[in-house]
Amino acid sequence: MKKLIIEGNHELSGTIKIGGAKNSVVALIPAAMLTDGKCVIYNVPNISDVPRLISMMEALGSKIEFKDETLYIDNTNSKNAEIDEENATKLRASYYFMGVLLAKYGYAEISYPGGCSIGSRPINFHLNGFEKLGAKISVVENKKYIASAKELVGSDIFLDFASVGATLNLMFAAVKAKGITNIYNAAKEPEIVNVASFLATMGAKVYGAGTSHITIEGATKLGDGIVEVIPDRIEAGTYLMIGSLLGKNLVIEGVLKDHLEAVFTKLKEAGCDIKIDGTTVIVNKVDHLKPVNVKTLVYPGFPTDLGQPMSTLLTQCEGESLFEETIYENRMRHIKYLNAMGANIRLFDRSAIIAGKSNLIGREVEATDLRAGAAMLVAGMIAEGTTKIVNIEHILRGYEKIVEKLSSVGAKIELVDE
Ligand code: EPU
Repeated sequence: MKKLIIEGNHELSGTIKIGGAKNSVVALIPAAMLTDGKCVIYNVPNISDVPRLISMMEALGSKIEFKDETLYIDNTNSKNAEIDEENATKLRASYYFMGVLLAKYGYAEISYPGGCSIGSRPINFHLNGFEKLGAKISVVENKKYIASAKELVGSDIFLDFASVGATLNLMFAAVKAKGITNIYNAAKEPEIVNVASFLATMGAKVYGAGTSHITIEGATKLGDGIVEVIPDRIEAGTYLMIGSLLGKNLVIEGVLKDHLEAVFTKLKEAGCDIKIDGTTVIVNKVDHLKPVNVKTLVYPGFPTDLGQPMSTLLTQCEGESLFEETIYENRMRHIKYLNAMGANIRLFDRSAIIAGKSNLIGREVEATDLRAGAAMLVAGMIAEGTTKIVNIEHILRGYEKIVEKLSSVGAKIELVDE
């Protein structure tokens, strides 16, 4: 079993370069399957979900080469096949093959998706949307879906919640549907825009990505596609937090400010020393941080994926901060570990009152999910003594080269097999 061992409290200086966004690339790779042509995806992060998606694509007949952070995908001999339990449960994003295969072949057979257990995470909006486009959905033995359609026909779809996954999956199905599809209350996350621009290079007609109303004019045939994965705003935000607690002129490169407005606002409100120069950010440790209230929301609100690491930073603010998670039911499992390390946090369902400043002490803790792992990472980095994080497979799904990146700026962190 792999563990991260961190000796806390080392000043960090040097440069960290942000990789491509996980939540973009996990949709871009399946999206490439929409065409029978070739695709190139640049700036692909070295995270564990990528090889999993590559092997799923290969099982569907794609020829793939991955070198120098670039994926070369050739779908000339692609074919339809079941996405089985073994593959589907390894990550959440396997559900994107449902929209893609349905669009391309009129038939998708796929086991329930996996991913972090941070809530019930139903996919009813995806399924209802596919049905609106004319698909029939059946559930087999409570473990897999079969979606089929003789023909998909554009429709008006309203999402009860601006779901990232449902917006993308319905875009995928709609690009090949006959006629026009409108997605109302669509998710506005930057990853949606990134994926829409990829589809546009293939010849898809997608308008309004990044707003709450996306219109798709169905096209029958798509051509070659090309895209660069946007920088990972969640990875950037995590390093901004670490830098605010330990940085000495720590430089973070590849940060798109517009994607992180809510995070910059909250960090500055807390008194963090952050200087932004284009896509480069310089961050310095501040001794006295002020408490702030943080509530996670859909984009452009404070991202749910940064709520947990932010809660660790709030333990270092002098006074009481309120932290509220509004997207998932189960994103507070890290709190007990923060308290075990010396934090003073009172938990009320999906809200927490965090009283600081607390001296955190290194302990053995668990990454119960990806971003809980990030919260433990931030905690271990600032704690006195040594922190061991177990179940770090979760962390490796979202933070590329984490040991290399942090070691290169002075952290004492290692990955061990125990
Ligand atoms: N929801 C439904 N029904 C649906 C779809 C979503 O009720 O059909 C609910 C979910 O249960 C949740 C909320 O809507 O309460 C938001 O879910 P959303 O669909 O937006 O999330 P997702 O697409 O499953 C992606 C990312 C998440 C990220 C969210 C929000 C991927 C693979 N996952 O999830 O990433 O938190 O968007 O930005 O892109 C992470 O990186 O740690 C992570 C969990």
